[in-house]
Amino acid sequence: MNTSPTRWWQDAVVYQVYVRSFADGDGDGIGDLAGLRAHLDHVAALGADGIWLNPHYASPQRDHGYDIADYFAVEPAYGTLEDFRGLVRDAHERGLKVLLDLVANHCSQDHEWFRAALAAAPGSPERARFHFCDGRGADGELPPNNWSSIFGGPAWTRTTDADGRPGQWYLHIFDPSQPDFDWSHLEVAQMFEDVLRFWFDQGVDGFRVDVAHGMAKHPELPDWPCREDGTSDYNAHMWNQPGVHDIYRRWRALADSYAPERELMFVGEVWVPEVSHLAEYLRPDELHQAFFFDLLLQQWDGTSIRGAITRGVEQSSATGTPATWTLSNHDVPRTVTRYGTTRDPQAASNGDPIASARTRGEVDLESGTRRARAAILMLLALPGSVYLYQGEELGLPEVYDLPDEARQDPIFFRSGGEEVGRDGCRIPMPWTEDRPTFGFSGDADVDPWMPQPDLFGKYAVSAQEQDASSTLALYRAALRARRTYASGELEWLDTGDQAVLAFRRGAMVCVVNTGTTAYQLPQQWGQARVASAELVDGHLPPDAGVWLS
Ligand code: NOJ
Repeated sequence: MNTSPTRWWQDAVVYQVYVRSFADGDGDGIGDLAGLRAHLDHVAALGADGIWLNPHYASPQRDHGYDIADYFAVEPAYGTLEDFRGLVRDAHERGLKVLLDLVANHCSQDHEWFRAALAAAPGSPERARFHFCDGRGADGELPPNNWSSIFGGPAWTRTTDADGRPGQWYLHIFDPSQPDFDWSHLEVAQMFEDVLRFWFDQGVDGFRVDVAHGMAKHPELPDWPCREDGTSDYNAHMWNQPGVHDIYRRWRALADSYAPERELMFVGEVWVPEVSHLAEYLRPDELHQAFFFDLLLQQWDGTSIRGAITRGVEQSSATGTPATWTLSNHDVPRTVTRYGTTRDPQAASNGDPIASARTRGEVDLESGTRRARAAILMLLALPGSVYLYQGEELGLPEVYDLPDEARQDPIFFRSGGEEVGRDGCRIPMPWTEDRPTFGFSGDADVDPWMPQPDLFGKYAVSAQEQDASSTLALYRAALRARRTYASGELEWLDTGDQAVLAFRRGAMVCVVNTGTTAYQLPQQWGQARVASAELVDGHLPPDAGVWLS
């Protein structure tokens, strides 16, 4: 099937902005919309086509905006609706599309509907918008079923009635501060259609859909079979239920109602065990894109990476829509750290597929950095669109050694400190080499909301702009070259070595060496246009990538 891009998003490079950590415009140590507006030229200079903002809505920030108290308001620490309109204007003036994060599986415990539900009686209409159930056991002291929360512990929390006695339980796939909506309730569906219209009418170009495989639950909420040790695989009663597809059909029709003047889109965060299931979310009347996480989960190994790319390309032909690639986001350790980590293959999983990307091990940052630089050349050469997470263009490492008192991720708390969680990839960006905040809060003498390690100074944008061999320079060159060279279908080339990947697209050949010996580049593949490391006598060193044409 022809999968040539015909819509803006199909080969777009989208830059993910973790608003809280991107840039602080008012000097209070927390990133905000003013800071983002002031640094939009950084995104434009990189050569991205759009930005995706992590949740910017009013929220108590228990999970940094993935717990929304008001879907129609901007988080006060980030600015106002007026600032938001200014951001959309500034972005559009620079040719950047704006995507928001749509968190529809759950809200915040501070959302007015949930507060009303807690105040109301069992069986009330207020409780019907969530999953409230009686407990099991003689006094209802056991959770209604055995589901686990993705952040650790049970997926149920017991409420306390007005008279102080223990009451019903409510479902939360994530933190207790994030109660799950019951999507079989009409008002829930209606509210989200209002949310979509509200933000589309502010000029946004699309949404990234949070846990897009999670909104519909098995109607009877039955137990999910566990192993003897209490762990379980992918809980198919909780995830990927057929009902989610009805939601996307309605949303797609809503987005399409803005055509032809507006080309609005949805990209789903969809975790499914089988690639074939992903295709169901990409049917012509559902989501436009779904992240192809398979590649992100692979370690630095030629065969595994080739396998994932092949599956992505096959999925793309099966659905007739170019693949949506990514190697990084705010939920997984930074690529330089991940590719430099020797992982324990026996590491346990709690049924959360992304957790495997967080597996710890010994880190060699030097090789990780070489590999991440090679990997980005590979990623940007693939047919389809690419999502980049802020700070990756600086080659920032994951920050593991945060003091416990600085940690904020609910995963850290729910796991009793056993898992450090995701704070380490959310450290405020270094813009200049100077303390106190490396330019994150401008000149303000404040502590940023999350401490930045000293080594961040050498990764600063201002430092890398002076250095032609920096990771920032590599990103800029690759994004520029992508516009010139990257087009057409992917065709694998034989290198005679499993560790060396090579594929052609049109006149361009991308070669990545995941092995331990230098690879002699065949002359007929052309001249090097961008390389992640210096070639030596026509050889591509280990852990390096190059584009030839
Ligand atoms: C997925 C988001 O990417 C993650 O950051 C968040 O914690 C969960 N969904 C819950 O919304």
